[in-house]
Amino acid sequence: MTRTTSLYEPVLAEMSQVEETLSSLARVDTPWLRDMLAAVLFAGGKRMRPAVSLLAGKFGVFDPALSVPLAASLELLHTASLVHDDVVDGAGTRRGRPTAGSLFDNHGAVILGDYVFAQAAALVARTGHAEVVRLFAETMVMMSMAQLAEDRAAFDYNQTVDDYLRRIRGKTASLFAIAAQGGALLSGVRDDDALALRGYGENLGIAFQIVDDILDFSGDEREMGKPVGSDLMQGTLTLPSLMLIERYPDENPIRRLFKDRGGPEHLREAIEVVCGSEILGEAYATAKGFGDAALAALARLPRTRERESLEEIAVYVLERRT
Ligand code: IPE
Ligand code: IPE
Ligand code: MG
Ligand code: MG
Repeated sequence: MTRTTSLYEPVLAEMSQVEETLSSLARVDTPWLRDMLAAVLFAGGKRMRPAVSLLAGKFGVFDPALSVPLAASLELLHTASLVHDDVVDGAGTRRGRPTAGSLFDNHGAVILGDYVFAQAAALVARTGHAEVVRLFAETMVMMSMAQLAEDRAAFDYNQTVDDYLRRIRGKTASLFAIAAQGGALLSGVRDDDALALRGYGENLGIAFQIVDDILDFSGDEREMGKPVGSDLMQGTLTLPSLMLIERYPDENPIRRLFKDRGGPEHLREAIEVVCGSEILGEAYATAKGFGDAALAALARLPRTRERESLEEIAVYVLERRT
């Protein structure tokens, strides 16, 4: 059994229905579109956002006819944002396979991303739940806003940890937040409990992205299935880099890298300095703080199998290597 199979245990039947929903979307008559969709939808993603939303739905009166479409739409939103992210990052691999941009071309990948976004919107509309649809639209705004901010801040040396946290709240945590809150709202969970679940999702998402950013320094390219070292190469400052800058503001390899807008020597040196210091451990401690906040947000909910599963996910996020 894979790690996620045991993590998602209480909702495995519904996760199969999510897969079926995604498969039915990819069953189009046009062969080239079928191939394009298959390449991005069935490439070995961990399916964390649908799992979180289904688990949250189990705290109320669960209706698969509503909860499965929401879960699938969140995976589509995630997938579309990655297809676009890989174009922006010029990434050649994701999940150990060629990205859409390298299989087709960047034009194809951008338009494919739009198509997947549109299908996500169509699916969430199927819930007929106005508040969930509103939250979905708001999430897309937050994600795009944060991605724009990240792009604008490339190679800008004057950034703070607060800027970084604001960006990852938008680009990553907002999606985990709607997964948990939206899943709960669809099942008629009380607003205050749904908000507690939102708090879980948001803190989980921040921890998740901090770990992703640590793994961009210390992870194994083959295990991760995507390029490492790419954040600094793109001029993106994440928590480990910001911690290095805080410590040595005047003289450090990142300052030289940004001044020259690149350079393999500076990049190698920057990665070496970060990995050779105690910075990654401190970044992990920060991630753990958010993981603990996610766990604390669940305290008011009944101790069910689903709550246990959400708790295990919060632990897994800190241990993951992929
Ligand atoms: C990758 O997310 C993008 C980030 C938010 C860091 P995941 O690691 O959940 O991606 P897959 O779907 O499992 O590949
Ligand atoms: C996450 O940021 C991308 C989105 C939230 C769309 P990253 O750039 O860190 O994601 P990876 O590392 O490419 O998966
Ligand atoms: Mg990226
Ligand atoms: Mg990353």
